[in-house]
Amino acid sequence: MSKVVPMSSLEDLYQTRLNFVLRFSRLIRTTRVYDPGNETIDRQLEECLHLVQTIWGHEKRLCLRILMDAIFVNEERVTGSKDTYPRIKRILEEMKERMIGEVVFSEGISRKDLKGFFYLFVDPPEGGADGARALADGLVKKGIYTITAKPFHPIFVDEGLRKDEAKKIYFRSIAMVKEICQNVLDNKPLALRKAKRLTQSVVDLFRQDSFALLGLSTVKNYDEYTYNHSVNVCIYSLAIGAKLGLSKKTLAELGLASLFHDVGKVKIPDAILRKPDKLNRVEWEIVKLHPMVGVEEIIEYHQFAEVHPRILFGIFDHHLSLDTSGYPSLKRKKKQTLFGKIVTIADVYDALTTPRCYRRGVYSPVDALKLMWKECGITLDPTLFKVFVNAIGAYPIGSLVELDNKEMGIVCENAQNPKHLDRPKVLTINPEGGNGLSINLSERDERTGGFKRSIVRCLDPKKYDIAVQERFL
Ligand SMILES: [Fe+2]
Ligand SMILES: [Fe+2]
Repeated sequence: MSKVVPMSSLEDLYQTRLNFVLRFSRLIRTTRVYDPGNETIDRQLEECLHLVQTIWGHEKRLCLRILMDAIFVNEERVTGSKDTYPRIKRILEEMKERMIGEVVFSEGISRKDLKGFFYLFVDPPEGGADGARALADGLVKKGIYTITAKPFHPIFVDEGLRKDEAKKIYFRSIAMVKEICQNVLDNKPLALRKAKRLTQSVVDLFRQDSFALLGLSTVKNYDEYTYNHSVNVCIYSLAIGAKLGLSKKTLAELGLASLFHDVGKVKIPDAILRKPDKLNRVEWEIVKLHPMVGVEEIIEYHQFAEVHPRILFGIFDHHLSLDTSGYPSLKRKKKQTLFGKIVTIADVYDALTTPRCYRRGVYSPVDALKLMWKECGITLDPTLFKVFVNAIGAYPIGSLVELDNKEMGIVCENAQNPKHLDRPKVLTINPEGGNGLSINLSERDERTGGFKRSIVRCLDPKKYDIAVQERFL
């Protein structure tokens, strides 16, 4: 490093680190937009280089590191403010997506090196799950030796803490759905404000770590089906919404629509809802009223102003089906809304994977997806279904699988690489009890280049007496 820029205080150093992080984040965006020869790029690179040199000059090193949901420059956490958080978050998301934990800048770095790095970062070489290694190799190939990347290692202690937070929110949501349903039964105003706040927490948590909530959605409570089902449908709907890139506000609205999609069911007598035999025509007609009743309940308590029409439409048409063959039957055909289509997919998936009074048998996550695939283009929207599979994985969280070394495992995290949706993370089952190993099926054998382990088939947890949901509680 040639220049050492004077710095008067520790505060200045912090600000420089923050500026570096913000500049790094902006460059991720601008390199996606502009060609390497563009002036804007060169100007931003120059500013970034200046910041790199300043930090290097004072600390004789520069490492940008992510640890769970925090970003560090050297040993200091950079938090920023409400306004700068989106840019910090962008780095976190981009690095996690590529499984990069650290980027180290060495002495003698040039603007050309930085340029090469950013263009490789936004258009990474093929490297399977090991994005850090692919990036590091790409840099060497380009003759850039002053920047390198190291892999991201999630910290399991913090993961446990977040799991606790997810559990708290999950069970609080169930309690809240119960409360709202009770309000409906007692003809009392619905606690929609409270519901909105809680839904916002679910959305926030989901945006940080979808795996913890998707894991909890494997909890299928037969006795409290409606409440439990509502929260699971909310989680699956958010999984689709998040993949679609919906804004936080729209996600919160989708969360509410999905959480209350079946609120009208509380007016249906238990004898019908829990009837083990086939419903007769009259009973079936009563069941078919629940989407309309749900909307009416919300409107009746003058809460309409608080609820976006999107939410009401989502509740209204969640059984309408893509081809409008479902219910309520409409005199004038109306297309299903986006929320309605999303909730339909989430609803069908949860219903198929949960035991019901009239169907004790339950589909495995993979079999449920196969069955739903056949409905694509008929009752289910094919594009949104693909988005759903993309979000929950070809082997959804909670699937019990057999690996090619005969070990059994439970899928605990989706595949990171969309090209390998069939390579999630699994937690192996320790036959002697206790925790097994966490294995990333995207990992390759260094010698052969092939995948270390693969899924051979799905297994039925009941056959092996394995309570899958316990792994997520
Ligand atoms: Fe429903
Ligand atoms: Fe439902």
